[in-house]
Amino acid sequence: MIYYQDKKLTLYLGDSKKILQQIPDNSIDTIITSPPYFQLRKYTNSKKEIGQEQEENLYIANLLEVFLECKRILKDNGSIFINIGNYGLIAEKLLIHLSNFLILQNKIIWHKPNPMPQGGQKLTNAWEYIFHFTKSNDYKIYDLYEEIDNKREKRNLKNKKIVAIDAGVAYIARIKKNNDITLKKIGRLIETKREGNKKILITDKKTIEYDIKITRNKYNNKFNPLNTLKELLNRENKRKLRNVWSIPLQPNLSNHVAPFPEELVKKCILLTTKKGDVILDPFIGSGTTAKVSLKLNRKCIGIDINENYLNIVKNRCLM
Ligand SMILES: C[S@@+](CC[C@H](N)C(=O)[O-])C[C@H]1O[C@@H](n2cnc3c(N)ncnc32)[C@H](O)[C@@H]1O
Repeated sequence: MIYYQDKKLTLYLGDSKKILQQIPDNSIDTIITSPPYFQLRKYTNSKKEIGQEQEENLYIANLLEVFLECKRILKDNGSIFINIGNYGLIAEKLLIHLSNFLILQNKIIWHKPNPMPQGGQKLTNAWEYIFHFTKSNDYKIYDLYEEIDNKREKRNLKNKKIVAIDAGVAYIARIKKNNDITLKKIGRLIETKREGNKKILITDKKTIEYDIKITRNKYNNKFNPLNTLKELLNRENKRKLRNVWSIPLQPNLSNHVAPFPEELVKKCILLTTKKGDVILDPFIGSGTTAKVSLKLNRKCIGIDINENYLNIVKNRCLM
């Protein structure tokens, strides 16, 4: 049953296994979800609620049914991110089953710097999995680079010289304090030499040492010194996303016991979608997937079996 619908957000109330059947084939760009854990929390009194099964095998079978439907509705170049906690071996068992019909691209570790305290003799559990699956190996990836948030690494970048050489002319670029880039032609290249790790560039105007050498723009092979250097300097300010994401737990106002942090959803969205794309969460809970999708100008479809949560999602999204 459709609980709420506007141009950007559709919320369904009911069992995902059934509701997903109403969604057309190949219509979703990215699926981001955190299924209920096995016998850990009770969200409703419904027999259809996943996580309340008597046996682990039945729980896994129910989730597999949901994800088979997810595969059908996902575009051929789309992605599925599944967040599963690190309890016993359930995540690993599920991973093996899912790999029979989806292609595992990344096993991401969500590291929680502020984990929930834990009694007993076991170590405090401070991470969860995020499995990134696709339907094919030809899948969309948009932004593989993230800002460097480490102050020391950032400081090292300031004032870094970057040298470009084209058709025998040498250019030098610097990042200024305000992140502007200055570019100066330093003269005709006469000779390059190596001294240990350093390279020495001798031009008709100057002799400079440099440790990064950039020549032609790899992408179109056209040399535009300013654009080439801007692109590469931007790249220098960023680094390729790693597969360990350190993101603090973020309580939200909904009192939902296991909400996603917004940052986690944002990373998945920016990595695999562009504006206007459709994102689906078959276990929407308090609606973090919906909130972040709309904030980033994507559309969202959410499903939950608990009506109270859908009301929370609506309020969070329409605020
Ligand atoms: C771990 S929570 C999701 C939390 C969510 N990621 C967030 O940010 O708030 C799992 C959700 O699955 C819902 N659920 C359980 N069984 C379901 C089913 N068969 N169909 C749809 N939703 C179900 C629960 O009501 C619960 O809200």
